[in-house]
Amino acid sequence: MKITFCCTDTKAEPWLQGLAAALPGADVSMWQPGAPQADYAVVWAPPQQFMDEQAGVKALFNIGAGVDALLQLRLPPDALVVRLDDAGMAVQMAEYVCHAVIRHFREFDGYEADTKAGRWGYRKPRLRSDFPIGVMGLGVLGERVARALAQFEFPINGWSRSPKAIDGVRAFAGAEQFHSFLAASRVLVNLLPLTPETANVMNQDTLGRLLPGGYVINVARGAHLVDGDLLALLASGHVAGATLDVFRTEPLPADHAFWGHPRIILTPHTSARTLREESIAQIVGKIGALARGEPIAGIVNAGRGY
Ligand code: NAP
Ligand code: GLV
Repeated sequence: MKITFCCTDTKAEPWLQGLAAALPGADVSMWQPGAPQADYAVVWAPPQQFMDEQAGVKALFNIGAGVDALLQLRLPPDALVVRLDDAGMAVQMAEYVCHAVIRHFREFDGYEADTKAGRWGYRKPRLRSDFPIGVMGLGVLGERVARALAQFEFPINGWSRSPKAIDGVRAFAGAEQFHSFLAASRVLVNLLPLTPETANVMNQDTLGRLLPGGYVINVARGAHLVDGDLLALLASGHVAGATLDVFRTEPLPADHAFWGHPRIILTPHTSARTLREESIAQIVGKIGALARGEPIAGIVNAGRGY
């Protein structure tokens, strides 16, 4: 069995060694132009030339959850596209989002300023019931995040394409319930995939429908958010602050208005990192299942975009 590896911005050697160790007898190698046809591919944002040359692969294993970059390419029509299915990302996402929500709710930014100023000052406790949280996207990551937030007894709203039943989550589904979902939420967490339907989903109109003093947490993709609209709503006070992990251009350009904004916290696309060992174990398990003709989780529906 031949496995080809083509992942931009990824140190290849540990992946090649890990895959070879987990698949004894397989020929695992880094893709080069003109390389022989492989059976399976492990990819992250490969060039179009890779797709054109490796048109006979049975499956493309994406080493991330989001497949938006991959689906922009012309893909081999018969290859399965398989995304990472948690592989250690869900718990990271849950801790990141819970941290962002609690930091805002408990006003730790204010206490940090007080510490710097040498000031001993209490803030009036806020009511959790005043901080309903809306989680957009209730898939592998969004469901885990919603469940984790529910443990802190916040009211939780969830929005997805198809209706869901999750303990502790008030479920909204489809375009027709989107405005009711927004109107019922003060904090908005984005865990949607980036598709033609979801691009620019956080804009002046939609963020303007949140309860006043809203808070925005974007951990999915930068192109979900209209940057200027968020800045305008921060300026008007309708949105109180934001924690942003993803951006339209990454790294975020040095002159972008998000840098240094007093009510924006930035992290460099790190809320849920791909963990190599877990990911290799998952991919190898799926290659085995495919070889035995068994079903696997995480097959992407290219028409739907995720
Ligand atoms: P997923 O399992 O595919 O879940 C996607 C969810 O979004 C599903 O609940 C789906 O609804 C919902 N959805 C899709 N299109 C929708 C629409 N038009 N309207 C309403 N709901 C819609 O994805 P995931 O694994 O949770 O990952 C979500 C995204 O997180 C990824 O695509 C990626 O962009 C991002 N991500 C970011 C990082 C980071 O470090 N920042 C790390 C990993 C992933 P249904 O359930 O009804 O299908
Ligand atoms: C990271 O952003 C991913 O999609 O896994």
